[in-house]
Amino acid sequence: MNIASLAGLRIVVSAGPTFEDIDPVRFIGNRSSGKMGFAVAAAAAQRGARVALVAGPVSLPTPAGVERINVRSAAQMHGAVMAALPADVYVGAAAVADFAPAHAVASKIKKQAGQDSLTLTLVRTRDILADVADHAQRPRVVVGFAAETDHVEAYARGKLEKKRLDLIAANRVGESGSGFESDDNALTVYAVDGSVHALGPAAKTQLADELLDLIAARLNQGPATTA
Ligand code: CTP
Repeated sequence: MNIASLAGLRIVVSAGPTFEDIDPVRFIGNRSSGKMGFAVAAAAAQRGARVALVAGPVSLPTPAGVERINVRSAAQMHGAVMAALPADVYVGAAAVADFAPAHAVASKIKKQAGQDSLTLTLVRTRDILADVADHAQRPRVVVGFAAETDHVEAYARGKLEKKRLDLIAANRVGESGSGFESDDNALTVYAVDGSVHALGPAAKTQLADELLDLIAARLNQGPATTA
């Protein structure tokens, strides 16, 4: 494998789920394990990059040589990612909640006698990836992830364009041997220049290395162009 050096570059990676608190004992979360983002952070540090890893609530060990910033909610992740900029590369591997409770309640919500339903009002969170891509000091390469159950290519290309990304790594979730909790995965990476790269099925550690090769190639290409 071609090991492109990333020495001297700053890379910000987000990883894991976010937890959106409903009350002191309940939250809305998701099944992201954080393994893919942690693997990208580890591999980038091994190649000499200065890596900031903004991690949602996961119990994975911090990769060697990586600066880890722990967060819980989408709002906290947004703040931590923005504070970690400027950077040469942003890899948004976190599964960020798209909606969060409008108000976290300070005391535990109690059910009332005869109550047979509960309505929660959720509001949209800010899109970290889109905000990074729109940032005044935009990283030269902005990479998103798309976990989809259907129409993987159409949805992934839609996100690539709408969020003004350089690369998007798409994977089909809900199949065994791929997706959230697994150590393995298969990714299809769509680039803004129209190229398509099938990675894996392989261990997430290997996919991380292959993804970094694509990122290194884009860094060498200069400004992004649309196909
Ligand atoms: N993302 C983000 N901030 C958000 C939501 C998502 O940065 N508030 C990033 C994720 O890190 C990932 C990509 O956006 O890189 C996922 O794209 P998105 O369109 O949000 O996918 P889904 O959350 O699956 O949304 P949808 O229901 O539209 O498929």
